[in-house]
Amino acid sequence: MSFRHLITLQELPKEDIQEILNLAQSFKQVILRPIKKVPTLKGKTIVNMFFEPSTRTRTSFELAAKRLSADVLNIQMSTSSVVKGETLLDTLATIEAMQIDMVVIRHSASGVPLFLTKNIKSSVINAGDGMHEHPTQGLLDMFSIIEKKKKIEGLNVSIVGDIAHSRVARSNIWGLTKMGAKVKVVGPTTLMPKEIEKLGVTVCNDLKEGLKDADVVNILRVQLERQKKNLFPTLREYATLFGVNSEKLKYAKPDCVVMHPGPMNRGIEISPNVADGINSVINEQVTNGVAVRMAVLYLMGGGKKDEAFN
Ligand code: CP
Repeated sequence: MSFRHLITLQELPKEDIQEILNLAQSFKQVILRPIKKVPTLKGKTIVNMFFEPSTRTRTSFELAAKRLSADVLNIQMSTSSVVKGETLLDTLATIEAMQIDMVVIRHSASGVPLFLTKNIKSSVINAGDGMHEHPTQGLLDMFSIIEKKKKIEGLNVSIVGDIAHSRVARSNIWGLTKMGAKVKVVGPTTLMPKEIEKLGVTVCNDLKEGLKDADVVNILRVQLERQKKNLFPTLREYATLFGVNSEKLKYAKPDCVVMHPGPMNRGIEISPNVADGINSVINEQVTNGVAVRMAVLYLMGGGKKDEAFN
């Protein structure tokens, strides 16, 4: 494995992505056992610092670390000394003085995790930075696709929705194109970043056309909190034109896999019967997130194979 920090899938070599995905398969077996814990990161300390709300990613990293027997510290940023004016680096210097090994960070500003790699000694994992990347979400999405489709290469993957504000879209695009998928991004022009096709994707502004022949449909949340101005007239209009419901899903392949990174806006970007339908793997994505994060923490923490899978 060639990385000490995990900041982007843009810079993660295909071989490392493959290694994480292979290892996650073994960890999935571990978390389905009655006793879900292995001693492989005993003695390591992992700190979760989330400056933005999170349900899935924060709990998933915490569970992954605990199942590897690491010590986990969850720092509530809203009750830390950051609110008294302490800088992020001073806060981290304080925490590092307690002899930690890894920092998992989510921040609203793109670039914060990369900035930390240049200023602290611990390994850094990006748990989502602004509109930049969410690498472990990209990895768990790829894992979930392989679990259902047995491969990524050659699949038609449609990523639908608010591409412009989505770090999940960026990590998916970098990861999936590297692994050989044909990626289509689908949404209104106002939610499409300029020159996104330079990342090797096809752009489509019509939902029916965008879903045509899709093996995988990854539906993104409309991120109203990141939009500085009104980028579509009303949520109702967005739901009518770009919300994926059972009728629209018929344009994709009958056995397509439906994914959503969560949290979902039911009735806006996804209808309840699609979210809960037979094609949906949304809850399995959450289970897989723990296995994938165990693989990442294991590799970055120098875990030992004989302690992980016996
Ligand atoms: N997918 C995702 O990042 O969800 P959370 O915001 O709940 O962590």
